[in-house]
Amino acid sequence: MRDPRTAERPGPPSRPSGAVRPRRLRRTAALRDWVAETDLDGHRFVLPLFVRPGDGGPTPVPSCPGVSRYPLGRFRALGRTLASEGVSSVLLFGVARTKDAEGRDAWSDTGLVPEAVRALKKGAPDLVVVTDVCLCAYTTHGHCGVVKGGEADNDASVDRLERVAVAHARAGADVVAPSAMMDGQVGAIRHALDEAGFEGTGVLAYSTKHASAFYRPFREIEGSSPEFGDRAGYQMDFRNAREALREMALDAAEGADILMVKPALTSLDLLARARERFDLPLAAYQVSGEYATLHAAAARGVVNLEEAARETLTAIRRAGADLIVTYFARDALRWLREDR
Ligand code: PBG
Repeated sequence: MRDPRTAERPGPPSRPSGAVRPRRLRRTAALRDWVAETDLDGHRFVLPLFVRPGDGGPTPVPSCPGVSRYPLGRFRALGRTLASEGVSSVLLFGVARTKDAEGRDAWSDTGLVPEAVRALKKGAPDLVVVTDVCLCAYTTHGHCGVVKGGEADNDASVDRLERVAVAHARAGADVVAPSAMMDGQVGAIRHALDEAGFEGTGVLAYSTKHASAFYRPFREIEGSSPEFGDRAGYQMDFRNAREALREMALDAAEGADILMVKPALTSLDLLARARERFDLPLAAYQVSGEYATLHAAAARGVVNLEEAARETLTAIRRAGADLIVTYFARDALRWLREDR
């Protein structure tokens, strides 16, 4: 008997055997859209925003086209504009009005971030407002915590971060995002928020934040480069994946509501592994240097900006991110509108 499975098939030998032809579903744009596994939805984007003191116009950031530091006086109107563009959430960064060794201005109730939160909420009550909780833009030495004996003292820093988080919650932030990479910061902040009556304020944990070359434009925007040394004593070593997952497990156990990896494109493996391991929402931060790099490449004609940006954003989603913090948020919302 001839076995039908091994029987000679008609046609030239170069013809692919069997019924499997993945190209069938790539034939037309409609077919490709029909079976696409990953969608870029506008509500996934979180737009980073920088508040500076005073009034006047936005101050552009040369390395990051389209990114500006907005004066506090503009925030109410900015909230309205962003809401009308479909921006559903922002991540807010401030600068110090006065810097000192401890970063005191970071937990002032009249500081730029609390004032900006209140203004945004007036202009756009439904906007989800997340605030970055760190000291680096508020300390004279530019480190993310209080420095003792030449390094960031963990527990003294956590104590200050708790105050920052509570000040932001009091101003009406929906979610606070500790980024200082101090041990125990998530649990301590959760506890401090609860004690102060802000059980409903969420914590987005910068769990896996690498000591990265890609933060340079951000530090120029914020004026937050360390005056001595670097951040390798507290930010994560990008060689380590198991340690990254441990950081996420710790933050989850400490009560984080959302876990984040950063930079995004250098952490796609971590995102994919975290997606399998944790049920919490996952975020990825496409940082300033990732954005500036794509812009610089596009300006030299190396890539088309929109195509390259869409590809990176989609890859970040495909790897498992529910939320993407990205300076492309406003552009991407426009691109998605133009698709329709
Ligand atoms: C503050 C902080 C940094 C970023 C977010 N929060 C900079 C740093 O750690 O030096 C980087 C974001 C970006 O590059 O877009 N600690």
